Amino acid sequence: MSEKLSLKSKDLLEERIKYIKQLFPEVVTEGKINFEKLRLILGEEVNGTKERYELNWVGKNEAIKTIQVQSSGTLIPVIDESINFDKTENIIIEGDNLEVLKILQRSYYGKIKMIYIDPPYNTGNDFIYPDNFKEGLNDYLKYSGQINEQGFQLSSNTETTGRLHSKWLNMMYPRLFLARNLLRDDGVIFVSIDDHEVKNLRYLLDEIFGEENFVAEIVWEKVHTRKNSAKYFSDSHEYILCYAKRKITKENEEGWVRNLLPRENTDAYSNPDNDPNGPWKPDPIYANNPYDADYEIVKPNGVVLKRPPGKYWRYSEKTIKEAIENNRIIWGEGDSYPMIKRYLKDVQDGLVPVTLFTREFAGDNALGNDELKNLLGAEKLFPYPKPSKLIQRLIQIGTNEDDIILDFFAGTGVTGDAILNMNKDGGNRKFILIQLPEPTKEGSAAREAGYKTISEICKARISKVIQKIEESGKSFEGIGFKFFKLTSSNFKIWDGEKASQNPDELAEQLRLFVNNIQEGRTKTDILYEIMLKSGFMLTDKVEKIDQNKELYSIKDGDLIVCLEDFIDKDLITKIIELHPKQFICLDSAFHNQDQLKTNTVLEFKEAGIVFKTV
Ligand SMILES: C[S@@+](CC[C@H](N)C(=O)[O-])C[C@H]1O[C@@H](n2cnc3c(N)ncnc32)[C@H](O)[C@@H]1O
Repeated sequence: MSEKLSLKSKDLLEERIKYIKQLFPEVVTEGKINFEKLRLILGEEVNGTKERYELNWVGKNEAIKTIQVQSSGTLIPVIDESINFDKTENIIIEGDNLEVLKILQRSYYGKIKMIYIDPPYNTGNDFIYPDNFKEGLNDYLKYSGQINEQGFQLSSNTETTGRLHSKWLNMMYPRLFLARNLLRDDGVIFVSIDDHEVKNLRYLLDEIFGEENFVAEIVWEKVHTRKNSAKYFSDSHEYILCYAKRKITKENEEGWVRNLLPRENTDAYSNPDNDPNGPWKPDPIYANNPYDADYEIVKPNGVVLKRPPGKYWRYSEKTIKEAIENNRIIWGEGDSYPMIKRYLKDVQDGLVPVTLFTREFAGDNALGNDELKNLLGAEKLFPYPKPSKLIQRLIQIGTNEDDIILDFFAGTGVTGDAILNMNKDGGNRKFILIQLPEPTKEGSAAREAGYKTISEICKARISKVIQKIEESGKSFEGIGFKFFKLTSSNFKIWDGEKASQNPDELAEQLRLFVNNIQEGRTKTDILYEIMLKSGFMLTDKVEKIDQNKELYSIKDGDLIVCLEDFIDKDLITKIIELHPKQFICLDSAFHNQDQLKTNTVLEFKEAGIVFKTV
């Protein structure tokens, strides 16, 4: 029989058990892990006591189980709401990020260079999307009105609901866990947060990323005005926590490397004497810090200089001699102390970032508001959008010019804005933004301006940024975005539990499966689901290879997908001639011709092509 394409997201539990088996084959007996044996092998490293140092909260076990529940959802492309769909590698996804992160596991595992998120801060006003670990996708479909359920309630996480911190941690834990999987080994995550949850977030990230991968707790100056109504202090900062997927250490040569920031102020450097080494600036040759060099310098005018009282020569005698020979010394008049030329080309070609991000360096809330207002033409469309300069700073520090950057609490899409504008430098950074269709509040400025959901604001902002770049004549290849929506699988999922209940249910399930495609779904919807579930990226090249047939080549023939309702011998011969690595077609296309199917399986096997049906 042919192999069936799995319509579920990657099974992460199976994956982890596989790793344990690889490391300790002796602890696996009859497919199960023998914990006693594992305990023996690990000896001293096992903590057998109940008291241990870790963050615990109500519902932590459920949160862990949430990760293991596979999603059967998919992402459908909405081409007419996208810009430059065929050419761009930027992606905006409308949906709940937990489901979407699960769906992305197969295709984007270890592919993302940087994640920036700005999650709800749990201030009591921000709403937290309910994750019911049994319902999962179904909850989302009700929430987003894709299946009918009147009055689906959103809840904000207020003090009165109790378990304020636990609820937030339950929301964050599975998302951060899944996000880490998507990072490359040399990847990095930045998370914005304020005083409400910074302590818990730090514990959470320590647990998920490893305490040893903590990089920095950045303080960002969000406002400069003083709130005189503040009861104690007027808050002027927030935090951005930074963790590497893997830090470089003595044992670990590979990991995240932080970039230096471009040196912006080079005004002090000039070249008045046409020095062949280029621009320079004068630097003193003595310093306050003790240094044991002690010598005399004889100036060309004959003045002999000892080191100044209470100061120290900064350079060895040998270095100074070489500098004199190489015309690097500016002598100055009389008994003044000479200076040494510091060449622009010799200074580190950038600045080490500091953990204090001032508003001059990274922008502030007011700038974030202004940017959104200038783009979309209305005030107060969104509470406290981040300034794009802040995200640009993180991108400068964290990534290279053709990396993929993910923001799964996208809000107004500021991360996409930052990236599009940065790419004017010829870079090819790509974004993936995920945003819930969270309804804007009745009577709010956003609703008045015609935006029904926050994901609409995000899409509108990115469209406007693109329009502005195009109008300014600074457009570039790949500008645009592909828009996708989270929805249930295009295929009816066989409900084994129901079918086994009684013969009538079995008959009903069989009837449903004569045609296993959900009504109203297009060939493109199906194609993208097959791509995702076979581990291809949403931006991999798709080509229709036969004008008269639903036959597609993905990533230059790595996969061929046939969505024809009928399949015959000729078509199979044609595909074998094309020799893809993998071929997938609809199971129903064989119309129960068992002989044809058996032969097809054999022929593909012989040709060394993986063959699956769906
Ligand atoms: C603090 S805002 C991000 C603002 C963004 N950085 C900006 O500057 O525009 C957090 C966003 O996460 C979204 N969000 C909350 N829960 C979500 C979920 N489960 N899936 C996707 N987005 C979610 C909210 O709708 C909100 O827009």
